[in-house]
Parts: sequence; structure tokens; C-alpha cells
Amino acid sequence: MADSQKREESISCFSPGLAGIPVAESAVSFVDGQVGHLEYRGIDIETLAENSTFEETSYLLLYGELPTAEQLEAFETRLKRHRRIKFRIRDMMKSFPESAHPMDSLQATVAALGMFYPYPRTLVGTLAQATVDDVCVNLIAKLPTLVAAHARMRRGDDPIAPRDDLSHAANFYYMLTGDEPYPLTERILDVAFIVHAEHTMNASTFSTLVVASSLADPYTSISAAIGSLSGPLHGGANEDVLQMLDEIGTVKNAESYLNGKLERKEKISGLGHRVYKTRDPRATLLVKLYKQLTDKIGSDIDYRIARQIEKLSESTLGKKGICPNVDFYSGIVYRKLGIPTDLFTPIFAIARVSGWLAHWKEQLGQGRIYRPSQIYTGKFDAPYTPIDKR
Ligand code: COA
Repeated sequence: MADSQKREESISCFSPGLAGIPVAESAVSFVDGQVGHLEYRGIDIETLAENSTFEETSYLLLYGELPTAEQLEAFETRLKRHRRIKFRIRDMMKSFPESAHPMDSLQATVAALGMFYPYPRTLVGTLAQATVDDVCVNLIAKLPTLVAAHARMRRGDDPIAPRDDLSHAANFYYMLTGDEPYPLTERILDVAFIVHAEHTMNASTFSTLVVASSLADPYTSISAAIGSLSGPLHGGANEDVLQMLDEIGTVKNAESYLNGKLERKEKISGLGHRVYKTRDPRATLLVKLYKQLTDKIGSDIDYRIARQIEKLSESTLGKKGICPNVDFYSGIVYRKLGIPTDLFTPIFAIARVSGWLAHWKEQLGQGRIYRPSQIYTGKFDAPYTPIDKR
């Protein structure tokens, strides 16, 4: 086939960013971006946020069904048993620069976990279910400990050991601050974990699957997903939103800020989504939580500026389907809980690891190594000129 014909054929199926191209079959979650609807294993996210816990939601994602009371208790017990991290991991973290971003620390420590929990390099079809379960529990249980330990050690404080009598959310808050959370704080964190736990195919989930498709170990695969999540076009946007709100400073400034951005054709952090063409349902849930919090401790400037940006952008960006996504409001909620800005994306990872692992499990034994093609735009038959003639 002529080169030009080959090129024409590749171009006809080329979709930058793989937009609209299915890369896997999956029963883990479903999203309808036109109406703003998200389901995990067939259960809508609003119902889970209202009734479930992060532990139960993780079980649902991993095993496809809600657990019985006994199954949930056994799962929670296993998670608690695996929260602790080895002293060598803590020592490794101590040697990271104090300025290291917590996402970089998390990516490095998760990759390092693979050395402590070797994974059999056999063909996946033969992997024991117990091995797969161990990996999932180990990663879900340890991520909060890794994030909290790094957050404390970079300030020169000792890490706080996990407590077995606390839930996943409460224990994370405790390891971070040394205090038990108020019930509302615990609930808010728990719901934030639930709504961030899974979101169909996206850059970080795809990263997990691409790396795992070569039969690389799951710690390496999840570490790659964390790297992907860290970027400002993905999970990192929630940090940028807070920086933007700080820069705007007052509700009155919101209009000129927005207009300036639109004139310069710059993007506004926290708005827009590849799938949602309406308000992200997770943003709506987070606003509901935020309101419960402000009823108790008062409203703040962050929320009022964010609402103003949302309102003002409705007639311009909103019309084009560019609406608030989950990151637009998550940072505001976390800041109100006293959590440092650079921990927002690691919190996203603490939650999303359940979704990544559900997709990883689903691919085991049936995936094929990812090997897409490219559209070659370079030269053909180029001459090799000897160095003294160049
Ligand atoms: N502010 C202003 N304009 C935006 C925008 C935003 N936040 N998001 C998208 N647009 C505009 C683009 O400029 C582009 O306009 P054009 O067609 O006139 O060139 C159009 O909408 C399509 O944007 P594009 O970046 O191609 O869409 P995408 O589906 O590839 O990207 C995001 C989706 C999420 C990466 C994008 O909306 C974005 O960068 N948002 C800000 C970062 C963010 O919040 N990320 C978290 C996602 S959960």
C-alpha cells in the first residue's frame, strides 16, 4: 500500500486525546454527561453519597455487588489491619526534599511498595484471587497513611500511627491532624471519598490499564495512575481553583477576572469536562455538603467567589456545555476543613485508588497489551550524510 494511502487511512480513525474511542469494556461505572448522571455498578452516586460509606463503596466497586453485613465487616477489618506502613518506607520519605509535592511523594512511595510486596510475574490468568484481594486491600488501606505521614514529616513532625477504632475517613483525618474529626467532618470526608472513588475511563484509569496490560505489577500501575492524576488538566485542577479564588480575592473582581480570561482565550480551572456538558453531579453533592458545614461554622469568601464565577460563566461558557466539574468545589470544602491545598489531589488519589483497582481487576486475564498506532509525519528514505559532510 502506498505511504500516502496508509496515512489517509490512519487519519480517518485518528481522534486526538482518544475522544470518543472505547478502549475497554467495563461494568464498573456509567456516566451520562448530557444529563449529569453517574452510577457505580448500577447504583447512582446520590444514593451512595446518602447511604453508603467509602469502605462499602470500595467493596461494591471491587466485587460488583453491595456486601452483606458480614462481608463488609470482614473487608473493614482487613483494611484496618493493613493501614500501617513499614519503617523503611517512612525512612525513605524522610529523605525526600521538604518542598516535594505530596503527589510526587505518593507516586514514589506507591511505586516503592511494590518492592516490599512482590507480585508474582506469572501470566495473569493463573493469579490466585487471594493475591488480587491482598493487593487491593493493601493499596486502599495504605494510601491515607502514606499521604498523612508525608504531610507531617515534611514539617518535621512524627507520623501518627493509624487507629483501628476509626473509619477510613476518620482515621485519615486523625493521622493528618492528631485530632479525631467531628462527626460532620468525618461524614464530609467520607462522602468526598465516595464521589471521587470512580469515574469510568479517564486519563489516570487508562494509565493504570496501559501499564498493567504489559503485566507490570499493580503497584507500578497505580503509581502511574497517580502521576497521571497529578496534572492540572486532571486531579490537579482543584489546587488551581483555590489559587484562582485567592487571586480574584473579592466577589466584585470575579467579573473582570472572568472577562479577562475569556478575552485571552485562557481556561478557567474547575470548569469544563470531556464528558459532562452540564454541571457535574459530584460538584452538586459537594456543594450540598459544604452548605451543611457553613450552616455550622459560617460561609466564606471562597464559596461566594466560586458561585459568582459559576453564575457569570453560565451565559458564555455554560451555553457551550462548559460547567463546574468536581474540582471546582472540592478544594473549597477541603480548605474549610483546614486541609492544606497541596493535599487536595492526594485526597483524590486516596479515593480513586478503589476505582483504579476495580478496573485493574476487571482487565486481569482478559486484557491485551495496549499497542495503538500512530500517524507518521516524518521523512522517508532520508540519506545518511557522513559527519564531516554535515
Ligand atoms: N475555560 C474556558 N474555556 C474552556 C474551558 C475552561 N475551563 N474548558 C474548555 N474550554 C473551551 C476550550 O478553550 C475549547 O474552546 P474552542 O473550541 O473554542 O477551542 C473548548 O472549550 C473545548 O475544550 P477542550 O480543552 O478541547 O476540551 P477537552 O474535552 O479536551 O478538555 C478539560 C476537557 C477538562 C481538560 C478542559 O475543560 C479543561 O482544561 N478544564 C480546566 C481544567 C479542569 O478543571 N480539569 C479538571 C477536569 S475534572
